[in-house]
Amino acid sequence: MSDVINIGLLGLGTVGRGVWQLLERPNDVITNRLGCRLKIKKILVRDPAKERGVDIPASLFITDAREILDDDDIQIVVEVIGGTLLARQAVNQALAAGKSVVTANKELMANFGQEVMEEAERRGADLFFEASVGAGIPIIQPLKVSLVGNRIQRVMGIINGTTNFILSKMDDGQGYEAALAEAQALGYAERDPADDIEGKDAAAKIAILASIAFNSRVTAGQVHTEGISAVSAKDIMYARELGYAVKLLAVAKLDDGSKSSGIDVRVHPAMIPLDHPLAAVTEAYNAIFVEGDAAGELMFFGQGAGSLPTAGAVVADVVLAADNIQRSTAGRLGCTCFNSWPIRPIDEVESSFYILIEAMDRPGVLAQIAKVFGDHQVSIGNVIQKQTEQGLAEVVFMTHRVVEGNLRSALDQIAALDVVDKVRNVIRVEVGQT
Ligand SMILES: NC(=O)c1ccc[n+]([C@@H]2O[C@H](COP(=O)([O-])OP(=O)(O)OC[C@H]3O[C@@H](n4cnc5c(N)ncnc54)[C@H](OP(=O)(O)O)[C@@H]3O)[C@@H](O)[C@H]2O)c1
Repeated sequence: MSDVINIGLLGLGTVGRGVWQLLERPNDVITNRLGCRLKIKKILVRDPAKERGVDIPASLFITDAREILDDDDIQIVVEVIGGTLLARQAVNQALAAGKSVVTANKELMANFGQEVMEEAERRGADLFFEASVGAGIPIIQPLKVSLVGNRIQRVMGIINGTTNFILSKMDDGQGYEAALAEAQALGYAERDPADDIEGKDAAAKIAILASIAFNSRVTAGQVHTEGISAVSAKDIMYARELGYAVKLLAVAKLDDGSKSSGIDVRVHPAMIPLDHPLAAVTEAYNAIFVEGDAAGELMFFGQGAGSLPTAGAVVADVVLAADNIQRSTAGRLGCTCFNSWPIRPIDEVESSFYILIEAMDRPGVLAQIAKVFGDHQVSIGNVIQKQTEQGLAEVVFMTHRVVEGNLRSALDQIAALDVVDKVRNVIRVEVGQT
């Protein structure tokens, strides 16, 4: 047992500063539980002269990661630089040197998770990454440990705060551009918000969650990904009228019973019934809904980004790693994947759909459209028709569950009908139950 466990901090940006703040303030719980102090010994930054708004001795700053990776007195490396270049190299080197690693890096874990987890296992070191999904919301540890007695059937979440904020504001009547500008002004959206808006950030996170939930490696590139830019105020209005909220949803489902077994993993705008707990998650909040065969339905809710929420998850991982070091039990509970479920192509996935079509406002049009749906085994559950200012008919169809490939073929034919002006939008409806 040591009196002090030294930490090397890679990065002192938004998250790194939070980690410094939380680890530097007195915390009797941590000290008593571990029987030692946690001390940040060195901090890697690009620019040591930068004004950071925190009081840190200049002697701690370094600009060469090797000063941490080669330091035998540093037992835990915290990676909060982001990206997959230096981060991947540093994490692998730290593990190879037998150090425990804590990372908040979703990109790293979603693309190279298997590589770094295998390296951790080989070296008998710990690799924890709670903050990589949902920031301050505990979800990795619950899936990995607390729910291990369950078969997880579905993980479904709102895991990008920027897009949830924008869709919430649109639900309140604000336009897309104004909502995005407000998200940027409040610091929720980056200056270049593409990764959030296009769903890439959520895709990386659901890849991580799917890998752990189903013990089968899913990478970010395998996630079917659609962003929110096609969602219009009109879609949101019709959703309300039909009893739904529109959310950017990340979904991972394991179908291990049917002929086409595999993982259905996707990120896209979806309509959720207003009485589903996820529909009530507004503003920049995140929530992850988990269905297990033993526990039933669970929801994890909270702040999915920000300095202190994220740092809180990093510090919890540091304490777990330190506890394992104190007891010489590091690396005992890994989570390398041992299944290899195929990823189901989106065309084979079954969902219900909302479809908004603009067509001629004259007799027989609905019948023509309905015939094409029928020819493709698409069954309609609900129809709303309204007249537009341009004298067209705006028709909303809500389908029953249908194989996506059939629906897409039907829509190709419908778009080509003389009586149809445009298929304006198609949004999947995610039902409450699998
Ligand atoms: N921000 C959040 O709310 C949040 C939430 C969950 C997870 N995360 C994840 O946490 C990680 C860090 O995010 P962040 O928002 O804290 O990033 P950030 O504010 O951009 O900070 C990055 C830090 O890493 C340092 N750095 C970057 N490249 C470096 C290099 N080549 N050599 C030395 N230092 C380098 C930077 O140094 P300088 O300061 O000198 O430039 C900076 O201190 C990312 O993986 C992110 O996805 C963030």
